[in-house]
Amino acid sequence: MNKPTETEIEKLIDSVQNSHKYRELELPVEMLRDLIWVNIPGSKNLAELKTNFRKALHNVIAPYLENIDYAKEIRYLQANPLSLNDPEQLRDYCLQMMAKHASTKERIPHLDEFFDTIFETIGTPGSILDLACALDPLCLPWLRLAPGASFKAYDLNGPRIRYLQTFFAQVYPAYQAIQQDILLHPPVEPADCAFFFKEAHRLEKRQPGSTRILLDALHVKTMVLSLPAMDLKGHHSLEDYHRHLVDKTLEGTIWQQEVHLVGNELLFFIHKEPVS
Ligand SMILES: C[S@@+](CC[C@H](N)C(=O)[O-])C[C@H]1O[C@@H](n2cnc3c(N)ncnc32)[C@H](O)[C@@H]1O
Repeated sequence: MNKPTETEIEKLIDSVQNSHKYRELELPVEMLRDLIWVNIPGSKNLAELKTNFRKALHNVIAPYLENIDYAKEIRYLQANPLSLNDPEQLRDYCLQMMAKHASTKERIPHLDEFFDTIFETIGTPGSILDLACALDPLCLPWLRLAPGASFKAYDLNGPRIRYLQTFFAQVYPAYQAIQQDILLHPPVEPADCAFFFKEAHRLEKRQPGSTRILLDALHVKTMVLSLPAMDLKGHHSLEDYHRHLVDKTLEGTIWQQEVHLVGNELLFFIHKEPVS
């Protein structure tokens, strides 16, 4: 197809920003533009571009659209503040919130083993970037980072980020939640490790090779990348497929990897620097 005009691109973006499905999310415009651009070569005309763009957007966002009303959750937190001084209340709250999101819900029975495995493999990190975080930060009570540690969480979903900022302000005031497309703008600050849980296979669909782009750009010693070992229904093993994804990502590098299985998550430790 011919390159769409700026007016046509803006119309496609407006249709998403005003749609019932996406309007609440305040998605970054440059991410929407990127999804349009990458779909131009495979589209015959504007109508097909619209369909392909919406499919790509659905793949990035929709499988993890849960029914959480973040504005309501913020009001709840404001009325019932959390504190590290009441660890039981904090954990109970985090568990019930994590259960509302398919991805964190699946991890609940394995939280201790999950973080023990990470700490045993790389030691206790002093700085973490949590990429495509969704509700991962609610696992922080199980992470037990040292005082003075830094934790930065990134996601595309605006209301979710505002909710995480409220949670951090009450319990972990030094930690940050940032609305950012980690593919278009990989975080640049150095850190001991990046968490990249259960998203690489989907980011690869958005742009083949994206995990490698991310790994090249990040200034971290280790990326802890998790991928599901089985499909959502538990019928098919995804292990070979996901091991292949990581092997392909690391082709031509000298980075070391090791793999552990916790619950349904294959935890790939990708060491850009040797572990001391
Ligand atoms: C599979 S879910 C949650 C993954 C989460 N790390 C976990 O293990 O529970 C994917 C999340 O990634 C976010 N996401 C997808 N693409 C992203 C991108 N390019 N930049 C930042 N966040 C992204 C989505 O908004 C969604 O919250």
